Amino acid sequence: MHFARAITSLVLSVNAATAAVLPRQANGTITNTTSTSNYTLPPLDLNSDNFIIRAQQFNDTSKTLGYMYAEYAYPPGYYATLRPNKTEAIVGHLTDTTNASNSSLVFGDGEYPQGFVLYNLLSYSNASIAQIFSGQQGTKGVFVNEGGIVDWASQRVAWYACDQALEWGRATAIWYRWMNVTTPRNCVDIQLIAEFVSSN
Ligand SMILES: *[C@@H]1O[C@H](CO)[C@@H](O)[C@H](O)[C@H]1NC(C)=O
Ligand SMILES: *[C@@H]1O[C@H](CO)[C@@H](O)[C@H](O)[C@H]1NC(C)=O
Ligand SMILES: *[C@@H]1O[C@H](CO)[C@@H](O)[C@H](O)[C@H]1NC(C)=O
Ligand SMILES: *[C@@H]1O[C@H](CO)[C@@H](O)[C@H](O)[C@H]1NC(C)=O
Ligand SMILES: *[C@@H]1O[C@H](CO)[C@@H](O)[C@H](O)[C@H]1NC(C)=O
Ligand SMILES: *[C@@H]1O[C@H](CO)[C@@H](O)[C@H](O)[C@H]1NC(C)=O
Ligand SMILES: *[C@@H]1O[C@H](CO)[C@@H](O)[C@H](O)[C@H]1NC(C)=O
Ligand SMILES: *[C@@H]1O[C@H](CO)[C@@H](O)[C@H](O)[C@H]1NC(C)=O
Ligand SMILES: *[C@@H]1O[C@H](CO)[C@@H](O)[C@H](O)[C@H]1NC(C)=O
Repeated sequence: MHFARAITSLVLSVNAATAAVLPRQANGTITNTTSTSNYTLPPLDLNSDNFIIRAQQFNDTSKTLGYMYAEYAYPPGYYATLRPNKTEAIVGHLTDTTNASNSSLVFGDGEYPQGFVLYNLLSYSNASIAQIFSGQQGTKGVFVNEGGIVDWASQRVAWYACDQALEWGRATAIWYRWMNVTTPRNCVDIQLIAEFVSSN
């Protein structure tokens, strides 16, 4: 079935041995973007290198909290969560590596895109959970900066992770919040790091 195939391709294993952080080349700056002051896209091709996303604790970069995974919620939606097992990491790529505003993050093979979806925060909505939708492109403005950090050009947000109950059980969900609100208790501020994987 459609979504079954989609998730199968999504979780196709990453050979952890081939995973490596590649330095990203600096090129240009974009004004008014997000949580870091250096925003530079990797100046590569459209349909950039594939990468997995590692969440490291914001205040202790030696701590890895897990790798981005798509936790099934409801058709065709998934929550972006963290799994400790690197071999379960979902593999994504950017759709535009020359223009951060136009870039989105998509997982899976080209046939069944699984877009990384962030809804704009409203002034009164402090935070939102990050989602992944089958058969959709991701939200525009998601890019990887020169530090290899996944960032969002549309709003200044900070990422955090919370252990919580989701539709089908407990998981570590990825959230984003305004910079000026506090992270909920029992949640941990994180940085999302792209680790490029060779496609073979
Ligand atoms: C920076 O980007 C521009 C336009 O995308 C490109 O022409 C140029 O070669 C890039 N510079 C480097 C150093 O990659
Ligand atoms: C960028 O931010 C500055 C200062 O906050 C603001 O004046 C300007 O209009 C913004 N530009 C865009 C394109 O959002
Ligand atoms: C931005 O880049 C400069 C030069 O590479 C570096 O010194 C600075 O620490 C960076 N700032 C951040 C917030 O990463
Ligand atoms: C990690 O996941 C892989 C593939 O699902 C599995 O073979 C392996 O046993 C798991 N490792 C651990 C430590 O759970
Ligand atoms: C945005 O990216 C798409 C590829 O995902 C490309 O086809 C399109 O030309 C880009 N648009 C702009 C305005 O850069
Ligand atoms: C970058 O993409 C945005 C959103 O699609 C578009 O409005 C803008 O014109 C693009 N910039 C360039 C330089 O192509
Ligand atoms: C936080 O900042 C956003 C964006 O500037 C604003 O809309 C919101 O009202 C602020 N929230 C608080 C609680 O200050
Ligand atoms: C949003 O954040 C502000 C500042 O941290 C807090 O006072 C307010 O109660 C929060 N609102 C909600 C709905 O959590
Ligand atoms: C780092 O963040 C965690 C989770 O928010 C917190 O428990 C811990 O006290 C923080 N450590 C430092 C040194 O700030």
